[in-house]
Amino acid sequence: MESLDGVVALGSTPSAGSAISGRNRADRFLMALLRACAHAVLVGAGTLRATPGHVWTAEHVFPDLKSEFAELRASLGRDTRPRLVLVTASGDVPVSHPAVIAGATVVTTAAGAAALKGRLPESCDVIEVGGSRSVDLQEVLEAMRRRGYDVILTEGGPHVIGDLIEKGLLDEAFITLSPVIAGRDREARLGMVHGVELLPDRGLWSRLLSARRHQDFLFLRYGLKA
Ligand SMILES: NC(=O)c1ccc[n+]([C@@H]2O[C@H](COP(=O)([O-])OP(=O)(O)OC[C@H]3O[C@@H](n4cnc5c(N)ncnc54)[C@H](OP(=O)(O)O)[C@@H]3O)[C@@H](O)[C@H]2O)c1
Repeated sequence: MESLDGVVALGSTPSAGSAISGRNRADRFLMALLRACAHAVLVGAGTLRATPGHVWTAEHVFPDLKSEFAELRASLGRDTRPRLVLVTASGDVPVSHPAVIAGATVVTTAAGAAALKGRLPESCDVIEVGGSRSVDLQEVLEAMRRRGYDVILTEGGPHVIGDLIEKGLLDEAFITLSPVIAGRDREARLGMVHGVELLPDRGLWSRLLSARRHQDFLFLRYGLKA
């Protein structure tokens, strides 16, 4: 979800996505549908920390169709809910966050695993991946695939998206363009991708796979691989 002026994060303001979408119902439906189809949802710890109270399930964002989404998951042979996969280098995970309590796989460095030792609820597990300052997202995806997670949805945030794009790991992007203008002044307000510079030398040219409109919102789907 991004604003007309390309903002996806509102600095220290929590729950940026909801603010930028104005809790738009069509956007929440699409988000729920994507979650309903996914084996797992991959997010960075920054997104978890910035979204208190959120749970990455279809019914959380679109409760009216809870039973229909459950039926869809069953027909696709998915578990009841997608597994939340959380990436953190530091291990700075709010362990009382409801999404953590509901169960998550935390993928982290040796230092992150040490920081988390004994703190996570039993619903969680930890995968330690090599690397001191970050984890290799290629290894993360391989570990997820070994668990049978073929359809992996990422909901960011910008650092995770940047890392995935830099390594050529993102197949498609679903972007909702909100008609709101967010502005930028005192705090850094990130766009969809952060932590990697592509243009002018190696801009990633995508293909527009579909464009839909609901009222003043645009729902865009891009293919990122040839
Ligand atoms: N508008 C939208 O649709 C949308 C969607 C998602 C997020 N957001 C917003 O984006 C903002 C957060 O931005 P962000 O870029 O900080 O989010 P992020 O990418 O979710 O989080 C960054 C953090 O994730 C961990 N991380 C990311 N890549 C890693 C890697 N390769 N190895 C190890 N750890 C890794 C690190 O955690 P540690 O610091 O714990 O090491 C890093 O500091 C929030 O304001 C949120 O609301 C908006």
